[in-house]
Amino acid sequence: MTPAPAALRPDTVRIVHLTDVHFGLEDRAAVEAALLMAHALKPTLTVVTGDITLAGRPDEFRAARAWLDRLPRPILVTPGNHDTPYYNLALRSLQPFHRWRRFIGADDAAEFEGPGLVACAINTARGAQPRLNWAQGAINLTAIEGVAARFGRADASLRVFACHHPLIDVEGAPVSGGVHRGDAATRALCEAGVDLILTGHLHNPFARPLPYGAGCSYVAGAGTLSLRTRGVPASFSVIEATDDTLSVTAQAWTGSHFEPFRNWAFPRRQSAGG
Ligand SMILES: [Fe+2]
Repeated sequence: MTPAPAALRPDTVRIVHLTDVHFGLEDRAAVEAALLMAHALKPTLTVVTGDITLAGRPDEFRAARAWLDRLPRPILVTPGNHDTPYYNLALRSLQPFHRWRRFIGADDAAEFEGPGLVACAINTARGAQPRLNWAQGAINLTAIEGVAARFGRADASLRVFACHHPLIDVEGAPVSGGVHRGDAATRALCEAGVDLILTGHLHNPFARPLPYGAGCSYVAGAGTLSLRTRGVPASFSVIEATDDTLSVTAQAWTGSHFEPFRNWAFPRRQSAGG
C-alpha cells in the first residue's frame, strides 16, 4: 500500500525525482509502485534524470515512453549515457540521441516554470568522447550561461537544475561522473542562485551542500529503479521545499512497498535571488 502523503504547507514545492530506471533491466514491481506513489504525492514537478533504458534499444525506449506517459505532469526529462545505442559504436558516435529524439523528444535541454519553481535540464551524456570512459559526463558551459540567465529572469522561489551525471564527484560514491567542466558549471550555477541540482548515474541516493556561491545551494542524487543496484535498495527521491527548509527523502523499495530510507534537511537561502 502506498502511504498517504503528509499535508503540504501552502508554500511547499514538491518534486518527485526518478532516475536510472534502465528499462530492459527495470525492477518491474518497483517501477509500477513508484508510478502509483508519484501520483499519490501530487508533485509540483516530476523530474527524470536519464538512463531510462539499458542499452538504448527501441523496445526499451517504447517501454520507457509508455511509463513516462503515465507519470504525473508536469514532467522534466533529460538523457543519460545508457540512452545512446550502447553497443553500436558507429551509431553511438554519429547519432547518439537519434532514438531519444524519436521516442522521447528534445535531448539537449528542457525547462519548466510554474508557481514558485523554475527548473532547467541540460544533457551531460555523450555518445563518444576522446577518452577511455566515454560514458562519463560533459557539460556545455554556454548552455549553463543560458540556465543562469533563465534563473535571473525567473520570478520563482526555487531554482532547480537537473542533469544525469553528478557535476562534481561525490565522496564514497561507487562510480565517478567524471564530468568535463563540471566544477566550473557547478560554480556558475551556484553563483546564479541555484537551490538544488538533481542528478542520477550513481544508483545511490545522496544529498549535500555545494561549496560555491553564497551558500544554501545543494545537490541531490536519486537511486535506481532497476535491478542494477549498487549496495543499496532500489529507490527514488522526494524533495520538499518550503520557504525555510529543503528536505530530500529517499524512498527505498522493500520488495512490497516503498519506505523512507534516508533523509536530509537543509536551510533555504533567505535573500531572494541570493
Ligand atoms: Fe548513467
